Amino acid sequence: MAKYIVKQSLSLSGEVEISGSKNAVLPIMAAALLTDELCEITGVPALRDVDVMCGLMRGIGARVNEFYSDKAIEIKTDKIDSEEAPNELVKKMRASVLVMGPLLARTGRARIALPGGCAIGTRPINLHLKGLKALGANISSENGYVIASADKLRGANIYLDSPSVGATENITMAAVLAEGTTVIENAAEEPEIVDMVNFLNKMGAKIKGAGTDTVRIEGVKKLSGAKHAVIPDRIETGTFMLAAAITRGNVLIKNAVSDHVKPITAKLKECGAVIDIVDDGLTVDARHGILTSTDIKTLPYPGFPTDIQSQFMAFLTTVHGAGMVIENVFENRYMHVNELNRMGANIKIEGRVAIVEGDRRLHGAEVFATDLRAGAALVLAALAARGTTQISEIHHIERGYSAFAEKLKGIGADIIRMEE
Ligand code: EPZ
Repeated sequence: MAKYIVKQSLSLSGEVEISGSKNAVLPIMAAALLTDELCEITGVPALRDVDVMCGLMRGIGARVNEFYSDKAIEIKTDKIDSEEAPNELVKKMRASVLVMGPLLARTGRARIALPGGCAIGTRPINLHLKGLKALGANISSENGYVIASADKLRGANIYLDSPSVGATENITMAAVLAEGTTVIENAAEEPEIVDMVNFLNKMGAKIKGAGTDTVRIEGVKKLSGAKHAVIPDRIETGTFMLAAAITRGNVLIKNAVSDHVKPITAKLKECGAVIDIVDDGLTVDARHGILTSTDIKTLPYPGFPTDIQSQFMAFLTTVHGAGMVIENVFENRYMHVNELNRMGANIKIEGRVAIVEGDRRLHGAEVFATDLRAGAALVLAALAARGTTQISEIHHIERGYSAFAEKLKGIGADIIRMEE
C-alpha cells in the first residue's frame, strides 16, 4: 500500500490544470453500452475508478482501447457477452451499478451485485430499481445480486423520492431505448448528469430538461456512436481552491468551470478569500487579511456539494472563529473528523451537525484515509500543519484524483508518494 509524506507547505502558488470529471466519465462510459457503434471519449482522467470501469466494460463484452497519453478512450460494444456486474467490481466501485440501465435497455437483462455500504453510508439503490420497475422491468434478487429483466421497456412517469444522481442516470439510460416517453420528476441536477445527457443526445437520444428537476426522455429505436469531451472535474476544482485557501496562497486553477463551483466560491468569499474568474479558469488569492469562519450545509446540486464537505471542514479549522457543518446527503460522512482531531483540530459532532473550532494550530501526525474525499481533506490539513504528516491508505484518494501529488508539487507543496 502507498502513503503520502507531507510537510507543511504554506502559501501555495502557481497554476494547476484540472482533469476530466470522474463522476461524468463513469456514466458516459456506461452509456456507450447502448450502441454497437464506436464511441470516442476524450478528456478522460487517469484514475483507478476509470480502470475499474474499463475492466467491467470488457467483462461485459465491450472492446475498450485506452490512449492515456491523449486522455482518450474508445469503446465499441459489437455484442454483449455478459449482462453482469460481478461482486468483486461492484465492491471496488459502487458506480458499477450504472451499467444496469444500459444493459437492461440493450439486452433486456442485467444482473448486478448489490452494492454494499461503504465508509460514507449504506448507499441503497431502491430508487434506481423503482425507476426500472416503472419502465416495465421485473426485479428480483438472489445471493446478493439484483436481476432486472424486461422483454420491452415502456416510457413511464417516475417520481424520485430524493434527487439521486445515480438513479437519475440509470433510469435515463434505460429510458432512451424504451417505447414512448419517460418523465423523471425530482431528478438530480448535477453537471455530470447534463454531460452524460449531452453525450446521449449526440448518439441520437431525445432528452430534454437535464440539469433541472424534470427530465423528459422520448424513446428512440437505436443509438449511434459519438465523440465526446468530458467536462472538467468540479470536485477536483473545489479541492484545489481549498488547497490555496488553507495555505493562504494564490493559485490559478486552469480548465475550471466557474459555474459548477458557485457554492464553493460563495463560501470562500464569505471567509475572506479573493476569487476571480479568468479566461481559462479561476484564481484563489487567500494571502491577505484574516480569514474568518462560516457555516456550510450540504445539499444536492446546485447546493453546497457533499463531496467538498470534508475538505472545507479542514479549512475551517484554520480560520478565525467557529463554524458549523451540516451533512444532509450521506448519513456517515464524518470519518475524517477523528483524523483531523488527531492533527490538533477540535471538531465536535452532534448527529448530522459538526461544530468546527477555528484558530487551530494543526500539527503533523500519522493518519489514514477512510474514503476518497476524507483522504483529500487530510492532505489539505497536512499542507497547513506544522511538521510532517504521514497519510496511509491513499488508494482511496487515487480513485478520484489523477496525479494528485504531482499537481500539488507543481504549486509548491512538499509531498512525496511512497510505497509502504
Ligand atoms: C454520486 O453518488 C457521486 N458518485 C458521489 O460522489 C456523490 O457524493 C453523490 O452522487 C451525491 O452528489 C458518482 O457520481 C460516481 P446519490 P450516488 O444516489 O449516485 C441515497 C465521490 O466522492 N440514495 O445521489 O451514489 C444515498 O444513500 C462520490 O466522487 C437512496 O436512498 O449518490 C445517499 O444518501 C462519493 N436510494 C443519497 O441518496 C437510492 O436508490 C445521495 O445518493 C440512491 C441513493
